[in-house]
Amino acid sequence: MKYRPLGRTGWNVSEVSFGAWAIGGAWGEVSEDDALGALRAAIDSGVNFIDTADVYGDGRSERLIARLKKERKDEIIVATKAGRRLPKQTSEGYSRHNLSTWIDDSLRNLAVGTIDLLQLHCPPTDLYYHPEVFGMLDDFVKAGKLRFYGVSVERVEEAIKAIEYPNVQSVQIIFNCFRQRPADVFFPLAKQRQVGILARVPLSSGMLTGKLRRDSHFAADDHRNFNRHGEAFDVGETFSGVDYERGLQAVEEIRRIVPSGITIGQFALRWILMFDAVTCAIPGGKRPEQVSENCGSSDLPPLRSEALVALKRIYEEKIKEFVHQRW
Ligand SMILES: NC(=O)c1ccc[n+]([C@@H]2O[C@H](COP(=O)([O-])OP(=O)(O)OC[C@H]3O[C@@H](n4cnc5c(N)ncnc54)[C@H](OP(=O)(O)O)[C@@H]3O)[C@@H](O)[C@H]2O)c1
Repeated sequence: MKYRPLGRTGWNVSEVSFGAWAIGGAWGEVSEDDALGALRAAIDSGVNFIDTADVYGDGRSERLIARLKKERKDEIIVATKAGRRLPKQTSEGYSRHNLSTWIDDSLRNLAVGTIDLLQLHCPPTDLYYHPEVFGMLDDFVKAGKLRFYGVSVERVEEAIKAIEYPNVQSVQIIFNCFRQRPADVFFPLAKQRQVGILARVPLSSGMLTGKLRRDSHFAADDHRNFNRHGEAFDVGETFSGVDYERGLQAVEEIRRIVPSGITIGQFALRWILMFDAVTCAIPGGKRPEQVSENCGSSDLPPLRSEALVALKRIYEEKIKEFVHQRW
């Protein structure tokens, strides 16, 4: 496993880290044994950074991470999120009182005195035009409740605006073979300001592993079933907002350009790591084997330029028109 600096925090985090949404909820049933097994496999593979949120399984994901931390001596940095407990997303909802309540709940669930990194959880675009909210986050840092803070965004323009606030250390954004715009527009700015980038949904909700089929079945409580058209939250969070059939077709083309000896998922993760502005990819994983495979992508040699050119072509021909200007 290789490590990269995260913003100006002084931390070096694993370039393949762990996304803990699926072990919390909204991805079908994941047993406690599997969830803890996935977390342990991550640490055994060199992962030292975990992304979670207060709402993942209503605190389940955070509590599982607390259990992991109790049984391991390794340094494990945890980024959580706040904001999605609001019944309706408004800037006013990000009040001092609400933020304080959400932070205290996460402190309790994570069983810590200070949150390593708190991210605003995809707030509405308007929020980024409310500097007082970032002032409140500074106050929580001064009070010792947060070590650092950052944002998780839907849109590239939100990311660009967010990093105008000098104490934003990280931006979490969807970046994968199917969502390439952040690299054109945002990455140079983030590098200039030394802001960390967490590449989320790196496997496009599992699509970029190449295992999904036209008739793949998803449980009723899996967002790949209930949010395929954005019924519950931003459609971009499910298969990156790419139509399922279209995604399958593009993956078949990617399959042909993957070097022998590595999996499609490892190729997709290694592609993300080709961008030095990226701090880490945060693939989700529900079982130890998935996590070990994903972490293995950090040890792979750089992708060859022919593969990069071929992937660009697949993106431009099959995907770009449907996603590029939407986020
Ligand atoms: N708004 C936000 O801030 C936000 C939104 C989304 C995600 N995130 C964060 O980003 C993280 C990653 O995104 P994501 O979990 O949505 O999507 P993802 O990482 O693209 O896909 C994860 C899913 O793919 C499947 N998978 C993973 N590794 C695999 C492997 N090696 N082989 C086969 N299947 C594999 C697993 O589901 P199955 O086995 O069921 O297929 C897994 O749950 C999340 O966990 C969360 O921490 C944040």
